[in-house]
Parts: sequence; C-alpha cells; structure tokens
Amino acid sequence: MNFDRRPKIAPSILSADFSNFGAEIRAIEAQGADWVHVDVMDGHFVPNITFGPQTCRAIRPHIKTVMDVHLMIAPVDTYIEAFADAGADFISVHVEAGPHMHRSLQAIRAAGARPGIAINPGTPVEALDNLLDLVDLVNVMGVNPGFGGQKFIRSQLIKIERLRRLIGDRPIHIEIDGGVAKDTIADIARAGADVFVAGNAVFSGGSIDAPDVYGRNITALKDIANNP
Ligand code: DX5
Ligand code: ZN
Repeated sequence: MNFDRRPKIAPSILSADFSNFGAEIRAIEAQGADWVHVDVMDGHFVPNITFGPQTCRAIRPHIKTVMDVHLMIAPVDTYIEAFADAGADFISVHVEAGPHMHRSLQAIRAAGARPGIAINPGTPVEALDNLLDLVDLVNVMGVNPGFGGQKFIRSQLIKIERLRRLIGDRPIHIEIDGGVAKDTIADIARAGADVFVAGNAVFSGGSIDAPDVYGRNITALKDIANNP
C-alpha cells in the first residue's frame, strides 16, 4: 500500500443493511469507495453494540480495497490479535480506551496490521503527542462515537489543522469520522484530512438494488474533497 494524501472516501458499513454486508460492500466498492470503514462497538466504551471479529472475518473476502477497522471497545488489548487475524488492514483504537496505548499500538503492528489512534471530540490533540511515531493513521472523531447520522462538531476542524502541522511530512493518514456530508467536507478537506469516513452521506437513498445512488453520493463527496 503506497502512502498518499489524495482524498479517499471510506463508507461506514454502520449505515449499510446489516443482513447483507457482503452485497453492500461489493456495491460501494463498485461505485467508487476507496476504503471500507468497519465500526466495532461494545456497549461499554460507547452506548451501542455492533459486531466483533467473527463478522469482520466473514466480510473480509468481500473487501477488495482496504479494510479499516475502528474499535470502539474497552478494554481493547485482549481483542487485537483476533481483529488482526480476521484480516483488518488498519486497526484503530481509542486514546481514551486504556492507560497503555503504546502497548496497544505496538500489539497491532506486531499482529501484522497498521495501527491507528482514534480521538474523541472532547480530547485535546496533545493526547497524541507521544503516540504519533507509532501510528499510520489518526482518526479524528467529528461526533461522539456510537451512532451514525450525527451533526458534525465544528471545533474538530481546528484539531485537524493542528494535527496536520504536528504530523508534518510523516506518512500518517488523517481520517475524519462522523458528520461528513456535502456541507461539511470542504472545510474538513481544507483543514488537512485525507480519509473521509461517511455513513449516512453515502448510504442514504441507495440500496443494493439502487447502487447508483451510492455512486452519486461518493462522487459528490469526492469531487468536493478534491476541490474544497
Ligand atoms: C460513529 C462511527 C462512524 C459513523 C459515521 O460512532 O464511528 O463511523 O458510522 O456515521 P455518519 O457518517 O453517518 O456520521
Ligand atoms: Zn468509525
């Protein structure tokens, strides 16, 4: 996987039909998705439950692009190997999810996946200072994690700008997750993000029987991100 900062759209299957992940993934990839974002929630770190490593393993063969697994779980260390074995390309853990993030991030790399660190809207960017050298991706949450379809918290734009400066020319992706839509993505792109997770903004109005809607949504977002 070569590193580049060109805008990438990563639809979140949190907004897909949960009874048909395989077909949904094939549809969004055929319609131009760059990565597939997979939201794992435990009902403890966040107030919602989705699925675990078995589902990740089951959907892996359907993903031809990049499997980007976002773990909203605590504790996390005990599950890292299972998600890596399930075939995740990126595994992101929350900086708020445990006291030993160095250990968690090193465990992800040792397990053969690329480490990412996710940061909640209420956590200052300084929390990442001593972790950036261990990660390939930072996931800046644009909403409080747990649910799709929430409104973008605009103060995260400054966080992205600061992070972009902190990262400099290191090959670390800046991902924004939550509230990405046609009316927010230009500001987010200008602030310095390169991976745009989008649930509602990709899946709304479409289905596996009307996948062209996914395509139009992805293209509209990407066009704006390319010319913000
Ligand atoms: C939020 C998840 C996001 C979510 C984004 O807890 O991590 O990935 O699905 O959904 P939208 O794009 O609808 O805000
Ligand atoms: Zn996510």
